[in-house]
Amino acid sequence: MQINTKLLKNKFEKSFKLYNKNAVVQSIMADRLVNEILNIKNYYENILELGCGSGLLTAKMAENINFKNYFANDLSEKSKFYVNKIIPNSVFYCGNAQKIKPSRKMDLIISNAVFQWFTNLEKVTSNYKDILNPEGILAFSTFAPGNFKEIKDLTGLSLDYKSLTEIKQILNKNFKILHCEEFTQILEFSTPLELLAHIKNTGVNSLDKTVWTFKDVKDFCNKYKQEYHKITLTYSPVIVTAQKK
Ligand SMILES: C[S@@+](CC[C@H](N)C(=O)[O-])C[C@H]1O[C@@H](n2cnc3c(N)ncnc32)[C@H](O)[C@@H]1O
Repeated sequence: MQINTKLLKNKFEKSFKLYNKNAVVQSIMADRLVNEILNIKNYYENILELGCGSGLLTAKMAENINFKNYFANDLSEKSKFYVNKIIPNSVFYCGNAQKIKPSRKMDLIISNAVFQWFTNLEKVTSNYKDILNPEGILAFSTFAPGNFKEIKDLTGLSLDYKSLTEIKQILNKNFKILHCEEFTQILEFSTPLELLAHIKNTGVNSLDKTVWTFKDVKDFCNKYKQEYHKITLTYSPVIVTAQKK
């Protein structure tokens, strides 16, 4: 699937205010990611965070990890406001994280719930290898196939999620994998409309260019009720830490 970064930026920007309250699974992912980073060590001189959004991971990093310099990135310039509130002396790079060229080498590159939007994981992670200092760490969370399976079943819309095996194969070329896990989180809602609101408030409705009409929403809700007894949304998060070879 082609990723429209302009659409992605606009949809995520709109969700920033409500994101942290709604992104319950992304918050669990960020906690697990920080724990895995702490398992390696608790001090990194230079940290680069990719796709920091409204600062959900940034806040957990600031609370738990010691560092000298924090560099943050997002497609949206508005993200700088959230990150600077958490880490006032951080440096912000606005733009596409896949092509980022920071001014110095990093000791840790981190990212929570962003890599699923990347189109060429092989090229991107090879770029990150070059940005890292010797023995530098790449730590990220993403999603595996099966993520949002209800939405794929009902609408056909889905990102091209990589399996754990594919992620490992890609990373193995440039990194020693330290930790790689997949788990499942199922959220339950009272109505399909509530589920749609959750998707909108977490910015994940960035796949579809078209604005859904009242009829589209009604059809989706009816179809959901016909096919499923419970109103659920399945997340399949993946957590990875790897060291530059
Ligand atoms: C699901 S949110 C995750 C936000 C945050 N990382 C967290 O811990 O919850 C995805 C964020 O990644 C950003 N993003 C998506 N693709 C990106 C790219 N190619 N380059 C930079 N940022 C990107 C979006 O703008 C959005 O803020």
